Amino acid sequence: MEIKKVGVCGCGLMGSGIVEVSAKAGYEVVVREIDEALLKKGLGRIDKSLSKAVAKGKATEADKKKVQSKIRGTVELGDLSDFDFNNAATTENLEEKIKLYRELDKLVKKEAIFASNTSSLSITEMAASTDRPDKFVGLHFFNPVPIMRLVEVVRAEVTSEETYEAAKKFAESVGKTVVSCKDSPGFVVNRILVPYLLDAVRALESGVATKEDIDNGMKLGCGHPMGPLELADFVGLDTTYHIAEIMFEEFKDPRYAAPPLLKRLVKAGHLGRKTKKGFYDYGKE
Ligand code: 3HC
Repeated sequence: MEIKKVGVCGCGLMGSGIVEVSAKAGYEVVVREIDEALLKKGLGRIDKSLSKAVAKGKATEADKKKVQSKIRGTVELGDLSDFDFNNAATTENLEEKIKLYRELDKLVKKEAIFASNTSSLSITEMAASTDRPDKFVGLHFFNPVPIMRLVEVVRAEVTSEETYEAAKKFAESVGKTVVSCKDSPGFVVNRILVPYLLDAVRALESGVATKEDIDNGMKLGCGHPMGPLELADFVGLDTTYHIAEIMFEEFKDPRYAAPPLLKRLVKAGHLGRKTKKGFYDYGKE
């Protein structure tokens, strides 16, 4: 099916990025948040990112207005009913995601494709909770969505070839390069990235080096744009922790076990950049 209208559930860090790149590619986008305050915050994030693109010379003020004219925010799930492609980027909680897809399944036209931006939960389980498992696919974007070039397209056992191809075409149409993978926790990138981030926390915890030296080691020694502790703050320590928990639960491999220091920071509400405190202090930014 040809995708023209894109629905997005969740306007957080990832959802807002997906809305932005979809609207930039010319799709009509409706984004749904659970309340007006979160919606306002998410739309504000898009505005800020588009302004940054203008400031960086990547777009004009006219481009910004055109993109914004394609985006509509709502708190009503029913507003997504006639959309061709529904991508959900909500919190990493399987029960909540299943509940959302069950509701969407009743509301949204039968031909529409459902996608999940989950980074580690089972696409198969979410697909099986709907009456359209063949029309369900994983579409995993990376943060910051407008800049990172990759999308993982996750094909569950139940995903039809047609759905997979439509999702791949959609990801390419918003300017991304696709890697295909099976429905396995963490897919390709997080399967490798998460143990690396956790190892950096373990190195800090055991006093191998300071956080600055761990980060500089990987930045200057391996040419990474960010060190692992800086990157964990950027991704969100809660997100990193949840992904680790999900992967540990699945694989029972100690490489995926969240180190106590990470857990303590999360419990203390120090979630990284979004709360202005994580491994680093962002209070002055
Ligand atoms: N819109 C369009 N373009 C933009 C933009 C915007 N809002 N903001 C910046 N850009 C462009 C800039 O113009 C610049 O382009 P150029 O290379 O052609 O000059 C480029 O993007 C880089 O922008 P900046 O100079 O502002 O940014 P930095 O050089 O400081 O880099 C960063 C910032 C891209 C975040 C970099 O630090 C980085 O790549 N960090 C690693 C991020 C990463 O690893 N993300 C993946 C996390 S894992 C994940 O998401 C999976 C999840 O499941 C956990």
